[in-house]
Amino acid sequence: MKNNVMFASAFTAVALLFSCQDKKFTEVVEVPLPTAQEKVSIGYPEDVKAKEGSFQVEKLPYSYDALSPTVSPLTLETHYSKHYLSDTNGLNAAIAGTPYQNQSIVDILSKLDIRDTELRNDAGGYYNHSLYWKSMAPDTGGTPTDTIAGTINRDFGSFANFKSAFKAEASSQVGSAWTFLIVDKYGKLRITSTQNQDNPLMRNAAVPGTPILALDLWEHAYYLGYQYRRKNYIDSFFNVINWKQINENYEEALRKKY
Ligand SMILES: [Fe+2]
Repeated sequence: MKNNVMFASAFTAVALLFSCQDKKFTEVVEVPLPTAQEKVSIGYPEDVKAKEGSFQVEKLPYSYDALSPTVSPLTLETHYSKHYLSDTNGLNAAIAGTPYQNQSIVDILSKLDIRDTELRNDAGGYYNHSLYWKSMAPDTGGTPTDTIAGTINRDFGSFANFKSAFKAEASSQVGSAWTFLIVDKYGKLRITSTQNQDNPLMRNAAVPGTPILALDLWEHAYYLGYQYRRKNYIDSFFNVINWKQINENYEEALRKKY
């Protein structure tokens, strides 16, 4: 009897299994491939132009697919041709007809009234993104060389220490933010972060200084490729850091006495 019950149970389970599998098979729906018209088309960075004004977009020194997989082509295109272009146009509109119209972006950032939300966000967004594009390049990453390599060792002990400190700082940010490597007023390298589009050159900076490397932590910078995995984006950023450019930024900061 017991064997019969066990056999009946086993039979029922197998029947259910096949029944479920049959159901599963019948529920498979073939998803049609997008038509040529529906395919996402990626444009060209050189087609992006700001409206008439004091500032033009910083030329993107690589194509939209050059940083993949760290930054997906669609992410980079949207970021550069929509978000960054909007900041640039907003900055031009905000300074038109004001004493800022003929000033450098560094002067504008260091002088602006932080209660002027529009100028604060657009000027910060313009500067931060311009630095972010230059902070990355294809076929880069690795470890720094030249002057900056020695200074990182001097101020952080080692490149490994710097890397873990930068990752920890970026990972601890909540919401829309930036993490920077800066040169402070004593010529020391420091890691700092800002919220929204704020910048270490602004008068409200908790840790003021000249940024030489920038990491955009807004969701628009990574969400298409990483969704909630922001830490993976931060890790992957180290595969595309353009250390040659960061060294040039550092040497320029030294020439200008920070
Ligand atoms: Fe951004």
